[in-house]
Amino acid sequence: MGNLFWRYEVVLVVVVMVVLMERGAADVPTYKLAFLSPLSGAEIPDKLAIEWTSAFQVALAVLNGETQEYQFEAVYFDTACDYQTSTVLSLNISKQSGLIGAVGPACSGAAISAARALQQDPIIPLVSFAATALSLSDRGLFPNFFRTVYSDNYQASAVAASILKFNMSKITLLYTNDYYSSLLAEQIQVLSGSAIAKKQLLEPGSNSSVDLKQLEGVLNLIDPNNFVLLVVQPAVAEDIWTTASNMRMTAYPWWYFGTDGTTAFDPSNVEGKITESTVAALQGEIGLAPFEGDYSNTSICNKFYQYWQIHGFAGLPATDPNKSRSYVPYLIDTVATFFEVVNILIHSGTEINPSTVLATLNGTGPGPLQFKGCTGVVQIDPSTGSRFVSADQPAIYDLVSLTQDSWESKGRIEDGTFTTLQPLMRPGTYPAPNQEYIAPDPNTPHKKKNGALIAGITVLVASILVVAFALFYFHQKRTKSPTSFFPMLQQ
Ligand SMILES: *[C@@H]1O[C@H](CO)[C@@H](O)[C@H](O)[C@H]1NC(C)=O
Ligand SMILES: *[C@@H]1O[C@H](CO)[C@@H](O)[C@H](O)[C@H]1NC(C)=O
Ligand SMILES: *[C@@H]1O[C@H](CO)[C@@H](O)[C@H](O)[C@H]1NC(C)=O
Ligand SMILES: *[C@@H]1O[C@H](CO)[C@@H](O)[C@H](O)[C@H]1NC(C)=O
Ligand SMILES: *[C@@H]1O[C@H](CO)[C@@H](O)[C@H](O)[C@H]1NC(C)=O
Ligand SMILES: *[C@@H]1O[C@H](CO)[C@@H](O)[C@H](O)[C@H]1NC(C)=O
Repeated sequence: MGNLFWRYEVVLVVVVMVVLMERGAADVPTYKLAFLSPLSGAEIPDKLAIEWTSAFQVALAVLNGETQEYQFEAVYFDTACDYQTSTVLSLNISKQSGLIGAVGPACSGAAISAARALQQDPIIPLVSFAATALSLSDRGLFPNFFRTVYSDNYQASAVAASILKFNMSKITLLYTNDYYSSLLAEQIQVLSGSAIAKKQLLEPGSNSSVDLKQLEGVLNLIDPNNFVLLVVQPAVAEDIWTTASNMRMTAYPWWYFGTDGTTAFDPSNVEGKITESTVAALQGEIGLAPFEGDYSNTSICNKFYQYWQIHGFAGLPATDPNKSRSYVPYLIDTVATFFEVVNILIHSGTEINPSTVLATLNGTGPGPLQFKGCTGVVQIDPSTGSRFVSADQPAIYDLVSLTQDSWESKGRIEDGTFTTLQPLMRPGTYPAPNQEYIAPDPNTPHKKKNGALIAGITVLVASILVVAFALFYFHQKRTKSPTSFFPMLQQ
């Protein structure tokens, strides 16, 4: 009897709990947030597509868990990277009821077409985490487009700073005919034209992203002592490097510098066309990547990576410092932006719909929209719809170098100025394995002398130091001075 009573009690408690939970869930409004991204990796690496999808889901789960006032529900659309697919899908997106906005698309071409397609009634606001083409800043054409990233005029300045820093000259710039590539190539030419010997458009290929016959011809004309600047999407970088490797044009002194599309290329994904030995030959290639964010366990962003790890979402980015993570922190900040917008609307007593969300983003609604995110102070510039750049929040890029499994941060560029730079290894195995880079003097094309001279000076300085050190040590020992400058030598 007692046993039975106990069971009734448990059942009652469970029923009450379930009823309360149901009521709780029913009481809070749910808003739909679309995720427009390449879900399969045709133009961008599979691994990155998985990483982005997980980042979106993790950010949504963590931030949904932090609010009791409302919930966001995800809807997914595979917008690939191109213009056509996006248009078809975008028209379908408008039919979703309860949708208040969209995260993405990642690629500039897809973003341009999605932003146009979503201007029908109701006009849906989009916030991208990776589309950087300058043309998206046109408020007349894209009043519903926003981004937590900087437009490519900041990247062009960071490229210009790198060109100066590495004394690049007689550069061959390779690009393709898409929004990201052709516009950024043009901006780089405007800022650094004198360093660029040739700006070469790569034609599309039938079985590869670019015409391989044309590419072979282009590579054959390049002097390997000068930089090759890749302003291309990751799939194009993969094709260029596979071809270059087959033609033995990756070894020393060849050196490639890529923009953020190139550094989204995933060296650990060797199931595609690219082989492990090609990746090995590419160690030390450099380029620009978006700011990696703060991964330390004291960072406000840490909760997302913790959740990602604990709940076993796919594609957790490496948590060791100085690894590039192609826009993952910007994606988290983009999801957080929508939560901030809804919070602002709730606290100002404004109705929540696509139009009020849009007004909050474009600065004509309640506000101000400003918060500390994974990538710094997140704020939208109403005159461009892009990430607001200020004294508190410069436009940050990482200078990254390719390793066997990732791109590693070696320096930082803020508002077009290097703030840090570690020594770099020039790629290749001939004549010297991974020799440290010494920029060529533009007037003397033969670097060997330079290297030998610097090596000689280094040896000389080191010898003097050793001798001085030894003399000092013996002197100290003899006089038994307790105030040695070298505490480790004290007895
Ligand atoms: C459009 O939406 C309908 C129903 O919501 C769905 O069945 C269809 O597959 C969608 N089309 C595309 C291209 O996503
Ligand atoms: C392209 O791929 C198809 C099938 O995969 C193949 O039949 C054709 O020969 C390829 N063309 C070239 C130019 O490699
Ligand atoms: C953060 O990481 C450091 C070492 O990386 C560790 O010493 C410290 O205990 C960690 N702090 C927390 C709160 O986990
Ligand atoms: C901002 O968004 C609101 C709401 O859709 C719209 O009425 C207004 O015209 C927009 N203003 C600008 C400057 O884009
Ligand atoms: C990470 O990068 C910073 C700045 O370039 C550098 O000071 C630091 O030593 C690097 N850390 C590691 C573990 O490589
Ligand atoms: C670039 O060249 C200038 C002058 O020729 C020189 O002072 C500077 O050290 C060089 N930069 C590098 C990174 O070697």
